[in-house]
Amino acid sequence: MGDRNYKQDIVIDYSNVMSSAVGSDHGLLQSELEGLHPRASAIHKWLAGLKKDKKVGFFDLHETDTRPIKKYAAKVRERYENMVVLGIGGSALGTIAVNNAVNHSLSNLLPKRKRNGYPRLFVADNIDPDQFGELLHTLDPKKTLFNVISKSGTTAETMSQFMIVYDMLNKKLKGKWKKKVVITTDAKKGLLREMVKEHKLDSFEVPANVGGRFSVFSAVGLLPLACAGVDIDALLKGSARMAERTAADDIMKNPAYLFSSILYLADIAKRKPMVVMMPYSSKLYGIADWFRQLWAESLGKRYSRDGKEVYTGQTPIKALGATDQHSQVQLYVEGPFDKVTVFLEVEKFKTAMGIPEVYKDKPELAYLAGSSLNDLIRVEMLGTQYALTTHNRPNFSIKLPELNEYVLGQLVYLLELSTAFSGGLYNIDPFDQPGVEFGKDFAYAMMGREGYAGLKAEIQDKMKNIPRRITQ
Ligand code: PA5
Repeated sequence: MGDRNYKQDIVIDYSNVMSSAVGSDHGLLQSELEGLHPRASAIHKWLAGLKKDKKVGFFDLHETDTRPIKKYAAKVRERYENMVVLGIGGSALGTIAVNNAVNHSLSNLLPKRKRNGYPRLFVADNIDPDQFGELLHTLDPKKTLFNVISKSGTTAETMSQFMIVYDMLNKKLKGKWKKKVVITTDAKKGLLREMVKEHKLDSFEVPANVGGRFSVFSAVGLLPLACAGVDIDALLKGSARMAERTAADDIMKNPAYLFSSILYLADIAKRKPMVVMMPYSSKLYGIADWFRQLWAESLGKRYSRDGKEVYTGQTPIKALGATDQHSQVQLYVEGPFDKVTVFLEVEKFKTAMGIPEVYKDKPELAYLAGSSLNDLIRVEMLGTQYALTTHNRPNFSIKLPELNEYVLGQLVYLLELSTAFSGGLYNIDPFDQPGVEFGKDFAYAMMGREGYAGLKAEIQDKMKNIPRRITQ
């Protein structure tokens, strides 16, 4: 990336969340934002303590030594046509989000030369038998590297995929299967780490103090992204830049704390239990998906940090501009006053897509002739913002100068830090996920895992007591 790009900062335009734009029932007053200052200072200290004591590690991931990852990626580039990530949730969504944002939308369809020699990247983040079967039947196992990513090393979805892949490779390639698998897991613990040792597999580490959904800047995301040709150093530079810009404890000088405070006040003070993230860029739809997990899994909690039942959380929804103007926007503009919308705006698209000067004799089309899709998508976004604002629906924008690694690095860190800070505002632990763990335990019990018979009996008993009601 050229030096010019390292000057591009993302900014937040929050004019339309203020009461001056959407009225005092739904909008915020400057004094309400500033009223959070004392709490912001306390939360800032709490987060700084977690960082200093190395209890939470995502703050420092931009210091990751990328050399081993880049070296490995260079070998993968030489040897493979395809890389398949087996992983779910935090082990997959960040990779999909960043890859979609910065790489060619149809990268996997391009000839290798046009991919700069990098392999195609597939992220298998579900266990749909049809989809997974179709993927495996399409790719040549000899030309494919499988990156198994699981911090715990036990997640049923990822491990069942791995078992299928292991068996397939073992049958087709015998002992050579080991060369077709690279593991990303905890440095010390877990079954996958044991397998690495037993079979002498290539491997990378997920730092113990980095949770799945905060792990895209560890080897979890950096390895597959580097293998797909993403400039991971620029990504981390962007993250470091945002860390620098979010060092203050003052909400008005810290974009992450401001983002989080707006959404918190919208939820708690203005009764907006839902947040819509709406990029006006198809390439950023993956970011909305990744953010949806980050926000939901981190903030949807039953207990506060001091053990009280609180049932917190703001429901994240993803929408896509301009597509969802023809799907969701009617609801957002005229439905219940229960949402706040965050736009992701791209100021300069990579492509200037002009609309040719054709059909100038047809008044219904003449206004488009000679314009561009760039102008049209921008005007449509402004239209949605205008409609929301004039209908008293708070909305704000994160403005991205361009879609490149440096800018994406900033955006990811901004949203991660905002999520952590929101944990402080809601007074819950944003870094655990007991609800997800329950789903994992359910799968273990019902699939007959050793040690889970008691849980299975308890579940079956409870299910028996729910009367079944099924249509004919
Ligand atoms: O954010 C999280 O902690 C979760 O979404 C995990 O990433 C997900 O459950 C997968 O876990 P693991 O990486 O242990 O397989």
